[in-house]
Amino acid sequence: MKRIKICDITAPELIGSEVDVMGWVRTRRGNKHVQFIALNDGSTVNNLQVVVDLTKFDDEQLKPITTGASLHVTGTLVASQGRGQSVEVQATAITVLGTADDTYPMQKKGHTLEFLREKAHLRLRTNLFGAIFRIRHHLAFAIHKFFNDHGFFYLNTPLITASDAEGAGDMFRVSTLDPDDLPRTEDGHVDYSRDFFGKHTSLTVSGQLEGELGATALGAIYTFGPTFRAENSNTPRHLAEFWMIEPEASFIDITDNMDLAEEFIKYCISYALEHCHDDIAYLDDYHMNKAKDTQESLIERIEGVLKESFVRLTYTEGIDILKASGRKFEFPVEWGVDLQSEHERYLVEEHFHRPVILTDYPRDIKAFYMKQNEDGKTVRAMDVLFPQIGEIIGGSEREADYDKLLAEIERRNIPMKDMWWYLETRKFGTVPHSGFGLGFERLILFVTGMANIRDVIAFPRTPGNAEF
Ligand code: 4AD
Ligand code: MG
Repeated sequence: MKRIKICDITAPELIGSEVDVMGWVRTRRGNKHVQFIALNDGSTVNNLQVVVDLTKFDDEQLKPITTGASLHVTGTLVASQGRGQSVEVQATAITVLGTADDTYPMQKKGHTLEFLREKAHLRLRTNLFGAIFRIRHHLAFAIHKFFNDHGFFYLNTPLITASDAEGAGDMFRVSTLDPDDLPRTEDGHVDYSRDFFGKHTSLTVSGQLEGELGATALGAIYTFGPTFRAENSNTPRHLAEFWMIEPEASFIDITDNMDLAEEFIKYCISYALEHCHDDIAYLDDYHMNKAKDTQESLIERIEGVLKESFVRLTYTEGIDILKASGRKFEFPVEWGVDLQSEHERYLVEEHFHRPVILTDYPRDIKAFYMKQNEDGKTVRAMDVLFPQIGEIIGGSEREADYDKLLAEIERRNIPMKDMWWYLETRKFGTVPHSGFGLGFERLILFVTGMANIRDVIAFPRTPGNAEF
């Protein structure tokens, strides 16, 4: 079958030729002489107009052509007379591949995002979700391209782990023990030595620790995979299962790491602008129609981030700005507190009007592996903060000194039996090294302008929801 994809159909040399197209009916309208079918095959946000001359088709044949039905259309490609498309197909034959009756939920436009989340098995067939997921694909491709072009090797780190990389404890247990009949040790605890892996295991919250093993061997690596967090936060920016990109490189310090993060994120965003033009334009219109009072279009916001360099300042300077702002925050600011998204967004959206990289956070609110500063209070952390999003990247220079790292692990009572292999990177040929993690869905939120993280991953996992 010489099927042609709708994204390829505008090629000028095709005009006048016979084409075969397949797709799903978005709408059908017309009168008793001529009918117009808007067909979409997922390859582009643009529908193909199929023109049906009713002298050539009878009513019975057209009846099953309803919204959601799938068709194979053969016809002649012609330049379109109508507005809104450059070409159309004058149908000579139509086969209905699959019907869709009036219980098909994606009938009309204007469904709420909440409704569409409940129909996540079909929402991909809407123009909105088609656009979002094509952009997601192109961003994933851009990420691999960026790191490949910069000499980073793609390392696949384990999803099942016996260590808690972030030391935050929000992990999903992985076990084959029978919960109704748990083996017990003499002192009454669950005996994980009888579990599948012979120890207590969980789904990973980050591939970083194993990433460091790769970086201190191959020089520079990146991971790109799912990560799991059992934090019970029902926010528009948190998922229990999300995708993270974690580059890690030897011989770079925190300044190089910030340069890398800025170059990387700008590359991904420009790549999307270049390769997802129609989808981003569609989303721009979508947001404009929804919020009539928006001052800035999606494309302006995206281009705004590319224009200027990110502001870099320390956490301490950030706290001073927040305290001097006179703003009443829901969570009061004091040196030592973890920043909330309201604080991050104030700095980015109201104070600096561009992305911010905050560095040198208090060590007690950051993970154990970060390089300790001379002052004994702060660590060489770096968070990239974005408009609309807040934290989009978290990273740091790593503590490369064996004794300091060991002391910090002990200070935090992290079980040493889980950490011996990690410490050996510092025992044998330790090097300065740094890395960061980008939350993939948060990047997609920014590029698509969507407000809820549940709308940029196909089948979101959040507290209380694992449908589909
Ligand atoms: O700041 P985080 O927790 O850093 C790490 O996991 C480090 N190991 C990264 C590294 O240095 N290699 O997470 C990194 C990023 C955040 O900035 C955020 O964008 C995203 O991951 N993220 C989440 N995205 C969606 N849902 C969640 N629950 C997320 N938690 C973090
Ligand atoms: Mg973080």
